[in-house]
Amino acid sequence: MHAIIQRLQDCLGLAGVLFEKEDVAPYCKDWRGIFSGDALAVAMPKTTQQVAEIVQLCQELHVKIVPQGGNTGLCGGATPEGDAPQIILSLKRLNQIREIDLANQTITVEAGCILQSIQEKVAASGAFFPLSLAAQGSCTVGGNLATNAGGINVLRYGNTRDICLGIEAVLASGEVYSHLKGLRKDNTGYDLKNLLIGSEGTLGIITAGVFKLFPSPFDHSAALVAIDDVSEMVALLHELQRRAGNELCAFEMMSRESLELTIRHFPEFNRPIFTAAKYTLLIELANFEVDNSSASNRVQAVLEETLEGYLVKGAILDAALATSEAQVNEFWAIRDHITLAQAKEPGNIKFDISFAISKIASFIKSTDAILQQKFNGVQIINFGHLGDGNLHYNLCAPKDAKSDYILNHEKNMTELVIAQIQLFDGSISAEHGIGQLKREYLMHHRGRVAYQMMVAIKKALDPDNLLNPNKVLFSEE
Ligand code: FAD
Ligand code: MLT
Ligand code: ZN
Repeated sequence: MHAIIQRLQDCLGLAGVLFEKEDVAPYCKDWRGIFSGDALAVAMPKTTQQVAEIVQLCQELHVKIVPQGGNTGLCGGATPEGDAPQIILSLKRLNQIREIDLANQTITVEAGCILQSIQEKVAASGAFFPLSLAAQGSCTVGGNLATNAGGINVLRYGNTRDICLGIEAVLASGEVYSHLKGLRKDNTGYDLKNLLIGSEGTLGIITAGVFKLFPSPFDHSAALVAIDDVSEMVALLHELQRRAGNELCAFEMMSRESLELTIRHFPEFNRPIFTAAKYTLLIELANFEVDNSSASNRVQAVLEETLEGYLVKGAILDAALATSEAQVNEFWAIRDHITLAQAKEPGNIKFDISFAISKIASFIKSTDAILQQKFNGVQIINFGHLGDGNLHYNLCAPKDAKSDYILNHEKNMTELVIAQIQLFDGSISAEHGIGQLKREYLMHHRGRVAYQMMVAIKKALDPDNLLNPNKVLFSEE
């Protein structure tokens, strides 16, 4: 038994350390089941002080640390890799809500809090916590911070970093960096919070964060819209933004293939509108006004009138408006199940990419055509947060292909799509991060100068390469 296990037990007690192979195994595999590795143990601290002690212990015994929250990440960032002795540091038991300050409209939470539990706690206080994604029942807020998660409300509220006012983190030195004052303005030197947010566990272990709260919407208006033309989608987005301002919360796009795939695995979601056009939009507006009935009518009327205009001019083919909050949730359920449906397929390549919204239509047209020409019948499972310029442009094998099709073509397909992303000035990761999945493409994509800046930052903050080695950047040791 490695010496670290006894030392971890001394620090965390027996219940705070897993070291039997079958107990450790589930933590060593990613959500999609495509990455796996080995770890000596899973350490589960309950306090920031314990996290600091574990880091010092790992320094002393030369054991690497892989931070992990809910393990829902889609890039293999929380999965151990390589032969170096390493532990998984699970933040799941560091899960207290430290404070809700309604006068400051903020909440301070520990990293292991499950996202949905924060939403519920905030709702019970009468306010609103806007970060929302399909994995919210299992992902942790520490993981959201570490990946700068996006989700379905970015259009109105921004990414995780936009709603975060400060964090607490344990650095590779074992020291605690703390900035949890809940200040909305603070220009005192370098922006360390935003350096750690999105660093995927490579620069520090986030132990807590303070977040903005928002007024709770009274209700929502939502519609499903059948539409063929991506340029018309973008025009509709701008029209709704012009008419509804930031009452427009979500503008999501789902290709017919992504809906067919989802219905194949979850037939209960079938709706006639889904086959009417190449794409279905899910649009949501929120009503924030106190005079509930008239305000709700106004928001609904903006949506109805805009869609009616688009129907009359033939820019959209069909639309279905939600008539109740329950139906709004029903609309979202299908959107949320696309990832789950895709996970049931034998093989798929995930692209989480973004563009200037003005370039999205040309990217899709050009890339769809080249892919079909080179990989006839390939299923393009294209969906995502169109309002943010973010596509989940995923590829599955043609329907009649052999089971090893994706394995055989993965490299060529990936390089083709990445070349297209470069051509249209996009990003190879809009919201999921780099982890292990996109690591080999990062230097070329960001360029030498940016990459070297990242290497210098990593070396300065983690000179012994203790934290999540070989993730985001290749380790140089
Ligand atoms: P993990 O998977 O445990 O870790 C992710 C990364 O963060 C790893 O690199 C890990 O080392 C690091 N990390 C975790 N906790 C800490 C910490 N406390 N300190 C330092 N580093 C840490 N993502 C989106 O952005 N938008 C979406 O809409 C979205 N939808 C999803 C839907 C489904 C069904 C699934 C399965 C995933 C989805 N994701 C989405 C991806 C994922 O849920 C998010 O990236 C989430 O933020 C990860 O949180 P987690 O706690 O599971 O982190
Ligand atoms: C989503 O928007 O559903 C996610 O980011 C997950 C995915 O890309 O599959
Ligand atoms: Zn997404």
